[in-house]
Amino acid sequence: MTVKAPRGTQDILPDRTPAWERVEGAFREVLERYGFGEIRTPVFEHTELFLRGVGESTDIVQKEMYTFTDRKGRSLTLRPEGTASVARAFVEHKLYAGPRPWKVYYLGPMFRYERPQAGRYRQHQQIGAELLGADSPAADFEMISLFTRLLAAVGLTGVRALVNSVGDAACRPAYTEALRAYLREHLDALCPDCVRRVEMNPLRVLDCKVEGCRTVAAGIPSIQDHLCADCRAHQERVLALLREAGIEVAVDDRLVRGLDYYTRTVFEIQHGGLGAQNAVGGGGRYDRLVEEVGGPATPGVGFSTGVERILLALEAEGVPLPGVRPPEVSVVTAGGDREREAALLLAHRLRGRLRVEVDILDRSLGNQMKAANRSGARAVVIVGEGELASKQWTVKDMVSGEQAAVPDADLEKHLFDMSRDQA
Ligand code: HAM
Repeated sequence: MTVKAPRGTQDILPDRTPAWERVEGAFREVLERYGFGEIRTPVFEHTELFLRGVGESTDIVQKEMYTFTDRKGRSLTLRPEGTASVARAFVEHKLYAGPRPWKVYYLGPMFRYERPQAGRYRQHQQIGAELLGADSPAADFEMISLFTRLLAAVGLTGVRALVNSVGDAACRPAYTEALRAYLREHLDALCPDCVRRVEMNPLRVLDCKVEGCRTVAAGIPSIQDHLCADCRAHQERVLALLREAGIEVAVDDRLVRGLDYYTRTVFEIQHGGLGAQNAVGGGGRYDRLVEEVGGPATPGVGFSTGVERILLALEAEGVPLPGVRPPEVSVVTAGGDREREAALLLAHRLRGRLRVEVDILDRSLGNQMKAANRSGARAVVIVGEGELASKQWTVKDMVSGEQAAVPDADLEKHLFDMSRDQA
């Protein structure tokens, strides 16, 4: 029996969850401001969805999926990403017949069998947003501006946004051919994966991190020079809107991203504090995906980001993150069984509205006081014989050291005022 979580996975212990909740909470608030509703899709899907959606030539499908057969022999896959599932749900529930655009966000674990390193895990937590049913540059603008606003909302500043266009059915085939012709002349300098990519999906070579491939990629013809008039106009409009809004982006003609469903706009947001895995998040337009998974032609655009990487980037910037919230009150007791019972009942009552600790280990008063001190509670309520007799509680302010006798009826208000002071 190994007492260890599987490689590439991690436990988020209670002292870390507040930081996660801060990020998730800030995202939810902004996403709702932009009119996105939350969707929750299954963690596993039919394998075919990702083969068709994400694309058979991608690294994700070729090397990274957690695929298994269930007891009835069906092939299922732990989702490596969320966009294909969103498109599947859109088709399954016939949402194409409803109002447009359809705007949803999701938050949950994704699974990829990758070599773990800083910022790269086999289970990671994504927050993503998708907008279906609009093909306008305005939709791309909405998503990119939303993305930058989300990152600003969690306090991230050192980000760099990159944009490119990967063309569409009108111009990409010619570009792909030009690329293939170029790459065929450099086959001996490419890694074995890229040699295969030349025939399957040469755009992938632009993404390869192997040194030799990067050298070859540096001389590759630029997709920006091969865009058709419609794709060019679309990109120019998106860039103009971003410029108007004061959102800084750079056009990077090498940005292709690792998923097959993109058409036209792709974008990525990077952060200098992340090392090799420098993408905080990315996304793009996918005008063929809904059709690909069996629905009527419906354009879409979206992005997603990894919570682990956001936290790493925030830490790199030194942004303070919340930890565990201390109890507001610690109830301690000096007496015997009667006082201990009264302390338990008092804690039960106060927990209707306050964060309260109480001893359940029969500790001595001294040890209860030590625990109260360690816990960071602002107020300690002492339950002793005298307090029970007088119906007045002794409340100690752990910051000033002052003690007060508080009548039972005033106790909640008194403690509230103290905890407000603490906050
Ligand atoms: P992606 O670029 O593959 O895009 O992943 C999005 C983000 O998820 C990455 O930028 C990164 O922050 C995080 N991420 C991905 N893989 C890992 C990993 N192994 N460990 C830690 N974090 C990771 C997508 O998944 C697309 N579905 C984005 C999209 C939405 N495009 C359109 N709509």
